Amino acid sequence: MYDAVMWPFERAAVAAWRRRLVRRAHGRVLEIGAGTGAQFRWYAPGVEVTALEPDPDMAARARRRAGLAAARIVVSEGRAEALPYEDSTFATAVSAFALCTVGDPRAVLSELWRVLVPDGRLFLLEHVHLLWEPGRTLQRWAAPVWAAVAGGCRLDRDTVAAAQATGFTLVRRDVRVGGWIVEAELVRAAESEDERPERRGPAVVRRESHAAVEGCRHAPR
Ligand SMILES: C[S@@+](CC[C@H](N)C(=O)[O-])C[C@H]1O[C@@H](n2cnc3c(N)ncnc32)[C@H](O)[C@@H]1O
Repeated sequence: MYDAVMWPFERAAVAAWRRRLVRRAHGRVLEIGAGTGAQFRWYAPGVEVTALEPDPDMAARARRRAGLAAARIVVSEGRAEALPYEDSTFATAVSAFALCTVGDPRAVLSELWRVLVPDGRLFLLEHVHLLWEPGRTLQRWAAPVWAAVAGGCRLDRDTVAAAQATGFTLVRRDVRVGGWIVEAELVRAAESEDERPERRGPAVVRRESHAAVEGCRHAPR
């Protein structure tokens, strides 16, 4: 069903965005919310991908696609809020249209920070909360209804800002469809844990984090 709904959009543009997104993934890669594995085919040979997906039916379809991919891809069932991997396990993390749906985006971003090596890369392809009005307000109004019919997907998440609030540094951001879709590359800076924005001190940090994840406030837990 998901693939059938996405098919015209994939043909029109999304497939090309996916290809761009994963072509720079290197080393050990973690893809969260992998769905049916729509972008598996574009991982380079030699890349080793761990793909995490909580829905068993989607994971089964993803496994079939993993078998056809050039890269070595292992699909595991699980949620990204509590990753079953050691600290500093992956060189690259990828999320395509997954941080809009996870129950707790802050927890997920924090986990991605933990499992990435210092200087590791986070590649995002996400639809986000628009920065301009009245689009932003309309998304906020529509978000609960959309979430109810679209498996918890939120229209009102400031995902890139939330990643920055977690401590990631933005390297590149390309916006599409009037700013609705963002393709971003972030780096997990090689700084000490104490220097992470969330841990710098309540006065500064709470304000930054609050603004950054404003769109997540009504997210289902
Ligand atoms: C909109 S789909 C995107 C799927 C795929 N990444 C793609 O681009 O086609 C969102 C995906 O996130 C998954 N998901 C939902 N909650 C999750 C969580 N807590 N942790 C990881 N993945 C989750 C869903 O099962 C679904 O496959």
